[in-house]
Amino acid sequence: MTVRKIKIGGLELKNNVFLSPMAGITNSAFRSLCLEGGAGLVAGEMVSAESLKYLSKKSFKMLKVSPGEHPIAVQIFGADPETMAAAAAHAQAAGADIIDINASCPVKKILRSGCGAMLMKKPLLLGNIIIAVKKSVKIPVTVKFRVGFTEKENLSDLLAKTAEESGADAITVHGRPVSRMHNGEVNLDFLNKAASIVKVPLIGNGGVTSAAQAREMFEAGCAGVSIGRAAVSNPRIFSEIISELDGNISEHTGDCDKVKTLIRFLVLNSELYGEVYGVIRARKLIGYWLKGLRGGAELRKRFMEMKNLNEAKALLLQYIEKDKRL
Ligand SMILES: Cc1cc2nc3c(=O)[nH]c(=O)nc-3n(C[C@H](O)[C@H](O)[C@H](O)COP(=O)(O)O)c2cc1C
Repeated sequence: MTVRKIKIGGLELKNNVFLSPMAGITNSAFRSLCLEGGAGLVAGEMVSAESLKYLSKKSFKMLKVSPGEHPIAVQIFGADPETMAAAAAHAQAAGADIIDINASCPVKKILRSGCGAMLMKKPLLLGNIIIAVKKSVKIPVTVKFRVGFTEKENLSDLLAKTAEESGADAITVHGRPVSRMHNGEVNLDFLNKAASIVKVPLIGNGGVTSAAQAREMFEAGCAGVSIGRAAVSNPRIFSEIISELDGNISEHTGDCDKVKTLIRFLVLNSELYGEVYGVIRARKLIGYWLKGLRGGAELRKRFMEMKNLNEAKALLLQYIEKDKRL
C-alpha cells in the first residue's frame, strides 16, 4: 500500500495523506494552507459535544467550515451517546464531510470527564457512541484512538473491531500509548495487527515527518497516514511526501520558506480574528512552527512581544533578510 485515492464510506478522497486534528492549531487558516499543500483530508480542532449542548458560541464557531475548506473531518469529543449524536448533527449542518470521534486525547482534564482516551477503557460505550452518531448523520463517521494506555498494552485490536462492528467508516490509530502523550516510539507492530483484522481503512498516526516514515506506516498495512506536528511550519509536507513516494525528488522546505508560510498564516489568521487577536492566537503554535529553525528560540521570544500583524510581519521579514545574508 502506498499513496493512492481512498474511499471513506461514500466519500472519495484524492489521496491518503491527511492532517491530524490539533487543538489550538488546526483552525480554518491552518487547514486552508494544508489543503493547498496537498493534504487529502484536513481535520478541525476537537469540539466539545457538551459545550454544543449548552449552545456555547465559541464551540459553534469552531464547527464553522469555509466554502474552500473541503474535504474536512470535524472532530467531536464527549462521553454520552445522545449528546455526541446531537453534536454530530450540528457538525454536519455546519459543513463537515466526515465526523471524527475522539477516543485518543490523553489530557488529564478530558480523561477525568470520561472523554477522549478514557473511552478506550469502555469499548461498549465507545461502540454505543459510534452507533448513535452514525444514526444521526448521513456523512461518514470515523474514530481515533491510541494503541493502548501503557507501553505494553495493546487495545487496538479490540477497539478496531468494536469500531468497525459499530459502523465506523474508517479508524485512525495513534501508534503511541496514552502514557506517552505525543512523544516516544510508535508501535508499528500494533498498527499492523489492528490493520489486518478490519476491512475499513485504518489510518496510521504518530511521528511521520518524512516520506520514509510514511512508507513504514504503509508497509505496516495502514491504508493512509495522518500527520500532526510535522505539518506545522510546513503545510506543504503532504505534497512533498506524496511526490517522494511517487518516485520524484522533492525539494525540502528551508527555514526561510517556513517563515514565509508563517507570514501567510498570520495574514489568514488576522482575517479570521482581526490583526491583533490573529497574532496573539498564533502564540499557541509558534513554538511548533519555529522548532528546529536557525535562531528559532530568539525569534520565538521576540514574536511573543508582537502586538499586531504589521509588527509580526516586520519581525519575520527581518529574519528572512538576515537569513539570506548568511
Ligand atoms: C498541540 C496538539 C494538539 C492536539 N489536539 C488534538 C485534538 O484536538 N484531537 C486529536 O485527536 N488529537 C490531537 N492531538 C494529537 C495529534 O492529532 C496527533 O495524534 C499527535 O500529534 C501525533 O501525531 P504527530 O506525531 O504526527 O504529531 C494534538 C496534538 C498536539 C501536539
